[in-house]
Amino acid sequence: MAKKKYVVHTVVISGFSLGVALFAYLLVTHHMSMPNQVMHSRDTLMRNGSSVLDRIKPVGKLVMELPKEVAVINASISTGTVTRDGAQVFGQSCAACHASGIAGAPKLGDQAHWQTRLAKGTKVLYVNALNGISSSTGVMPAKGGNASLSDAEVKAAVDYIVAKVKIN
Ligand code: HEC
Repeated sequence: MAKKKYVVHTVVISGFSLGVALFAYLLVTHHMSMPNQVMHSRDTLMRNGSSVLDRIKPVGKLVMELPKEVAVINASISTGTVTRDGAQVFGQSCAACHASGIAGAPKLGDQAHWQTRLAKGTKVLYVNALNGISSSTGVMPAKGGNASLSDAEVKAAVDYIVAKVKIN
């Protein structure tokens, strides 16, 4: 009876030991081959031309765009196409002086007053309205003091003034 037990124990213990030894062997060989595998995959990556920069580059790009309407308005501002017409510009930025003719400003529609100025030619009037002009009569600020006006708008206001003198 005791002998049988001894045999069973011996078989179990040696079987277990064999299992552990096999496991240890597999574990060690597995780890021995790892560096080679790592080298290998790194090699493949490099060969594909995949650089570190390629691998860490952002996956996406955020593009900020203004709404269409804003773009349209911006475009028209820079080209000066959204123009108030001459009468509107005159009313907003020129009438303060030119409607009543205060501070030496030639009055709107006052032919006698405008005649000498018209004689200079419309181009000169444009330039003086854009850049401003001053003399003993008074001071005409550049663009009537409203820098937000486009050149086209100031010219339209001058045309409006000139037309008024020609009609009256
Ligand atoms: C602050 C008052 C004032 C405002 C605002 C003003 N003007 Fe004048 N403007 C004058 C005066 C003063 C003169 C006369 C200046 C002179 O003869 O030296 C004048 C003269 C002019 C002349 C004649 C220039 C010349 O060569 O004889 C034109 C054209 C003119 N203004 C256009 C305009 C227009 C267009 C606007 C609006 C965008 C405007 N002005 C706004 C005061 C003003």
